[in-house]
Amino acid sequence: MADASLLILPGDGIGPEVMAEVRRVIAWFGDKRGLKIDVSEDLVGGAAYDKHGVPLADETMAKAQEVDAVLLGAVGGPAYDNLDFSLKPERGLLRLRKEMDLYSNLRPAQCFDALADFSSLKRDVVAGLDIMIVRELTSGVYFGEPRGIFEEGNERVGINTQRYTESEIDRAARSAFELARRRNNKVCSMEKANVMESGVLWREVVQKVHDEDYPDVELSHMYADAGAMQLTRWPKQFDVIVTDNLFGDLLSDIAAMLTGSLGMLPSASLGAPMANGRPKAMYEPVHGSAPDIAGQGKANPIACILSFAMALRYSFDAGAEADRLEAAVETVLAQGLRTPDLLGEDGVSPVTTTEMGDGILAALDASL
Ligand code: IPM
Ligand code: MG
Repeated sequence: MADASLLILPGDGIGPEVMAEVRRVIAWFGDKRGLKIDVSEDLVGGAAYDKHGVPLADETMAKAQEVDAVLLGAVGGPAYDNLDFSLKPERGLLRLRKEMDLYSNLRPAQCFDALADFSSLKRDVVAGLDIMIVRELTSGVYFGEPRGIFEEGNERVGINTQRYTESEIDRAARSAFELARRRNNKVCSMEKANVMESGVLWREVVQKVHDEDYPDVELSHMYADAGAMQLTRWPKQFDVIVTDNLFGDLLSDIAAMLTGSLGMLPSASLGAPMANGRPKAMYEPVHGSAPDIAGQGKANPIACILSFAMALRYSFDAGAEADRLEAAVETVLAQGLRTPDLLGEDGVSPVTTTEMGDGILAALDASL
């Protein structure tokens, strides 16, 4: 019997080609490390729309609820730009997050030494950077009601609602404090308590959770705009940042770019523990579907491969194997393997998506 089950949803654009490399990595762990994962595959986003007329079929949603973890590639593309809002590829992703109740989105931003010169910031600002953004993922302005475009007098008004309950803030805060304890024991919470009531409540609840249950963790608060500024000024001051859904969307893109390439960063979205003790979980690269380079062998598979490493760590109790995979990625970067998103050094020619996969498999072999 398999130790664990994984549902793969490659999605659109470069999703399928980066996922093909992940499948080889999964097979390697099966063959060489005895890690038996029962892998199934299905459609999401535009690919699901093309087949079923919806961005996520109900059967796929049901399957996602049953497996130990979901690994998603990317969704979206220009072919779907004019679809009704409810049918857009992104709705498939948002439905998975919401119905699986994946409230805690972990977005690490780690600067690999070999890539420190790729950042738009100075090497010394980013070298050795290792921060974690915890983004609340199932509430806030992404889901708050009322929402919509309404008639008001002789014009239309577009409405979205920022809404947070105490329990939603509480559980996001706990997940950040727990993580901080396993890292450098520091949490910075970001909101706009100077302008928004939801921010006032956010700050209060985070402080209360801290004082009652995590007084050993160092906690600070920052307005999110100042936080964005500090992230680009001196990012190494942070360890864990906890923030709401929309600010987390923005701040995690900033943090990602500090590391040089969006093609490098994984993420984990975690919910409450299931009956088997594992958290409900979905893993996905932070990058999007990049339709402009899809199907050309130019995509960097590392973000998706590192997302699988996070699955090894958080869903499959295989932290040591996650370390092994992350070290293999570090090895190929140190060897100078570069997909086109990582070019810039003199005399380096790019490798293809598959060649990057080959390099990582060779580094894994060498690790035995
Ligand atoms: C992200 C993306 C998504 C979001 C989109 C694709 C719906 O930007 O995961 O950061 O806004 O959450
Ligand atoms: Mg985003």
